[in-house]
Amino acid sequence: MAKLDIVTLPDPILRKISTSVERIDDEMRRLADDMLETMYDAPGVGLAAIQVGVPLRLVVVDVADAEEGPQPLVLFNPEIVRFGPETRLHEEGCLSIPDVRVDIERPSTLTLRYLDRDGKQREIDADGLLATAIQHEVNHLDGKLIIDFLSSLKRDIVVRKFKKLARTTTT
Ligand code: NI
Repeated sequence: MAKLDIVTLPDPILRKISTSVERIDDEMRRLADDMLETMYDAPGVGLAAIQVGVPLRLVVVDVADAEEGPQPLVLFNPEIVRFGPETRLHEEGCLSIPDVRVDIERPSTLTLRYLDRDGKQREIDADGLLATAIQHEVNHLDGKLIIDFLSSLKRDIVVRKFKKLARTTTT
């Protein structure tokens, strides 16, 4: 396994729409494993392929705490097929937007359809932090970021800060 570089704001690739994975082969499984290693190292609870510069619909998630031990989920072509009626408010961070946290209210339960690492179609019900993390990562596949939940004024402030940061770290 290898640790990958995480793309950060304001890299425009984060706004790309990712395309479906056509074939789940060893190369795809290796990418998923590398993404898991990158996510655990960061550390984070979820990572989308676009965040390592690959515009494919692949997400890895692990919301288990230290006592539970690792419970990695590898989700190819994830698709939310149903939302529950209740919502949940969570302060979300994003590995592509370091040190920024945004309060976001999202549905608290959902049903997710995806292909597992063997290409088998599965469906799971998710709630709590897992439901939040899945929605956050599926947003990434559609080029949507947590700052899009802010007012345009606040969003502009964050984007400007990251543009300035990018300039000062490259010179
Ligand atoms: Ni994120």
